Amino acid sequence: MRILGTGSAAPKNVLTNQMLSTMVDTSDEWIVERTGIRTRHIAADDETALTMARDAATRALAAADIPASRIKLVICASVTNELRCPSLACSLQRDLGLPEEIMAFDINAACSGFIFALITASEFLKADDCALIVGSEVLSRITDYNDRSTCVLFGDGAGAAVIESSDEPLSWITTVKGDDQMLMIDDYIHMDGQAVFKFAVETLTRSIRSVTEKAGLTLAELDLIICHQANQRILASASKRLGVAMDRFFVNLAEHGNTSAASVPIALDEAVRAGLLHKDMRVILAGFGGGLTSGAIAMRWS
Ligand code: COA
Repeated sequence: MRILGTGSAAPKNVLTNQMLSTMVDTSDEWIVERTGIRTRHIAADDETALTMARDAATRALAAADIPASRIKLVICASVTNELRCPSLACSLQRDLGLPEEIMAFDINAACSGFIFALITASEFLKADDCALIVGSEVLSRITDYNDRSTCVLFGDGAGAAVIESSDEPLSWITTVKGDDQMLMIDDYIHMDGQAVFKFAVETLTRSIRSVTEKAGLTLAELDLIICHQANQRILASASKRLGVAMDRFFVNLAEHGNTSAASVPIALDEAVRAGLLHKDMRVILAGFGGGLTSGAIAMRWS
């Protein structure tokens, strides 16, 4: 699999730690020390999972610079589409004028959604085919702003990638452990923070190690690791356990917080735009979250 282009979109409105401290009993100091998060983007009334997905996908398609006729598959990962039906992916097909002779559907694998979608697409695509993969979330609409243990963590945004099939096989690994106690979403997000933290560190460490081995690499050969951006301390703990320096982990959570399925593609797009990815670099993409789910991909950037 080759990534031809990436894009992302974040709402203009920003919710700072200072603003949150006027809403619940918290402080900038506590949030920064426990999470590393300083701000998160919050959708305005007229911004939805679809409008953000459209902006991110438009940018990714422009960066990929391919005719729309090459797109054979659209997968959107989200837990916050306004409608049960049509799916985000079907609405995107219409709004972006993509061909009708394709498949388009949404998946819910929470914060691992973009990784699961990338793996699904890469296994599906035939030679010369391309796919549009999007993660888009308006988590602010399912965040309880009276609950200080969750409301400081989440933000809104979307990220997208256009991929094409390539001869090089993708190394990937996934896990699923059905659990509705640690992390569950009904009208709002409910979470046992400490248990999720422990799960996240263990699963992230294990999946990065396993996928690296599967790709025939050593941890020392990894150039850049782009993980789901949940908490700075989760990334720091994984870095320590793996013995891989933090400077090889891409981190943007101070600005965005946790944007669930949008988190990995936003980080990927920001890494691309920052000029951090070069040909032949060994890159890991990794996600973990509700379900419980986890997934990691090892790829050579080309
Ligand atoms: N501001 C101030 N105090 C807060 C707070 C906040 N926003 N949120 C919780 N606290 C308090 C708790 O009430 C508790 O107080 P107490 O000791 O008087 O009972 C204290 O801080 C410690 O709470 P605890 O839950 O042990 O904190 P923590 O160090 O585990 O940090 C999280 C809480 C949520 C930041 C952390 O557990 C976490 O990030 N978990 C993973 C969450 C995640 O990434 N979820 C998505 C995965 S995809």
